[in-house]
Amino acid sequence: MSWTKKHLLDIESLTAEEITTVLDTARAFKAVGERAIKKVPALRGKTVVNLFIEPSTRTRISFELAEQRLTADIVNFSADASSFKKGETLKDTAKNLEALNADFIVIRHSASGAAHFLSRVVKSSIINAGDGAHEHPTQALLDAFTIRERKGSIAGLNVTILGDILYSRVARSNIWALTKLDAKVTLCGPSTLVPKTFEQMGCRVTHNVDEAIRDADIIHLLRIQHERQRKTMFPSIGEYTNLFGLNKARLAKTKPDSLIMHPGPINRGVEIDSEIADCSRSLILEQVTNGLAVRMAVLFLLNGGKGPGEVIS
Ligand code: CP
Repeated sequence: MSWTKKHLLDIESLTAEEITTVLDTARAFKAVGERAIKKVPALRGKTVVNLFIEPSTRTRISFELAEQRLTADIVNFSADASSFKKGETLKDTAKNLEALNADFIVIRHSASGAAHFLSRVVKSSIINAGDGAHEHPTQALLDAFTIRERKGSIAGLNVTILGDILYSRVARSNIWALTKLDAKVTLCGPSTLVPKTFEQMGCRVTHNVDEAIRDADIIHLLRIQHERQRKTMFPSIGEYTNLFGLNKARLAKTKPDSLIMHPGPINRGVEIDSEIADCSRSLILEQVTNGLAVRMAVLFLLNGGKGPGEVIS
């Protein structure tokens, strides 16, 4: 077990051992979350700034709750009520947070590379909470945690990621994490959104949805990232749903123990039938629950924690 990193900027630069350390530490924090007193003093005296320049529900709330559970001092930065509106740059904003002794900055930004940029211009530890279409590392870690918890291990599993891969930071981080942990990853969706170039990341690419999900242990769905698409990538939403949406007829042809995941927000009736989103094979809300323990683990390790053995039990 080892953890020496100051920042969590991506999954690409993590080793399988580092990913496993996060997952094992998260398991210890999940046990803490099941106790009557759920708080631990691991980040007492430390200041965490949640710098969300792009909308978020799950990531922002679960980071804030994780910070509370670790007894950190928390500052929530609202872009709309900030001097961004007066033209202040991201760098100057971060420098001001550094001047106020922010130990950690959790950043979500629409620009790929924003988290890496901040790690170069301030001394605070930077956690990437999603940067453009680049990476969303804590999402991939909570997804891996959820798969491992449900299936026992990740190595050898068939994981199909279905949807808008091209514009998805969740897809990129999951591909890195799952291939490092020796899962067999298949990507599927319209050819405009799932180019063959993704095979260079160690995945299989197909545009035949029934074939992609037939042998899958995990079907990981992604929504269409309209906010990042600069041109029309397929004729209509209705056609996308007909050709690639997960419906009851398609699900009936999958393995009975295959599980369904989605990072949220879901678009019911587009990439997933409403009934499937709520069925017993859906892990969508379990993923959200596990995000709390995973984000506690990430903050704990970046703060100098060495691994699960140091989590107060
Ligand atoms: N999965 C995810 O990142 O959701 P939010 O955009 O609501 O944080």
